[in-house]
Amino acid sequence: MLNDQAATLRALAAHKASHGQRAHHSRVIVIASGKGGVGKTNIAVNLGIAWAERGLKVAILDADMGLANVDIVLGINPRYNLSHVINGERTLMEVMVKGPQELGIIAGGSGIAELADIGQYKLERFIDGLSELDESLDILLIDTGAGISRSVLSFALASDETLVVATPDPTSIADAYGLIKVVALRNPQAQVRVIVNMCESQKNGEEVFYKLDSVARRFLSRELDWAGSIPRDVMVQRAVQEFQPFYIAYPRCKAAVAIGQMADRLLDEGPRTMQHLPSTNAGGISGLFRRVMHLVRH
Ligand SMILES: Nc1ncnc2c1ncn2[C@@H]1O[C@H](COP(=O)(O)OP(=O)(O)OP(=O)(O)O)[C@@H](O)[C@H]1O
Ligand SMILES: [Mg+2]
Repeated sequence: MLNDQAATLRALAAHKASHGQRAHHSRVIVIASGKGGVGKTNIAVNLGIAWAERGLKVAILDADMGLANVDIVLGINPRYNLSHVINGERTLMEVMVKGPQELGIIAGGSGIAELADIGQYKLERFIDGLSELDESLDILLIDTGAGISRSVLSFALASDETLVVATPDPTSIADAYGLIKVVALRNPQAQVRVIVNMCESQKNGEEVFYKLDSVARRFLSRELDWAGSIPRDVMVQRAVQEFQPFYIAYPRCKAAVAIGQMADRLLDEGPRTMQHLPSTNAGGISGLFRRVMHLVRH
């Protein structure tokens, strides 16, 4: 029986190879912001859980090199991180821990910084390992640190899809524009979607989006896409204090409802680049990391 199955699998693999079918690639979405503390990590975790709840295989890569973020929001403490993968001590699958709804969490640790200096052998081994992740995930969300540091930018510049988080606070809007500007100039094919977090009303969120969109149209000749708004909600703070994602702890709170709607919208729309623009950024997770490597090394 087992032999039969193995033979069938081999035949299937040979069939795929001979028909030149492309390997499965995950949808990769980078979450970034100009100003810090605007809610990126909370959005990444809760959006990830909402997608996982809808039956998708989702993981978050915590690429913030500052304080670990995702593990704090989830109250978990991953033992290993990307650095162990790069050094060949662990595989990616061993480093990934499971959160609520089977959401995968990969801690970046110092691994992201190390990528800039590793040799060709380690790099190829690392990229090979990423293809396993590509096979097993539907969506990889990459949570970055704030600002336009080299590492944040390299992810935003390498990605097909970036979610830029802003709040109604004027400095946050200005800093979001700064980030959007760099991405628009250096990665013109990328789809940039805006999330307005901590808004007082939906109208307030839309006003912030229109402000950013009109400045981007005028000065960058560039349209932005709207991902949705999330209201300011005390339940978010309460959940953070309890080390729980609000989508799980308070599923009926305003922020959780908004996250659910955003999850559906982003799934319905899909990545635009794959629909009608020639993508320079194909290749899922391994493709993204190749481009990140190129950016951090040059
Ligand atoms: N919708 C919201 N309503 C109320 N408070 C919120 C909301 N979103 C985020 N916050 C508050 O903002 C804090 C910062 O959120 P979070 O850590 O997700 O931001 P971040 O952008 O990831 O920050 P950093 O740039 O430091 O990584 C949270 O601890 C929470 O208290
Ligand atoms: Mg964060």
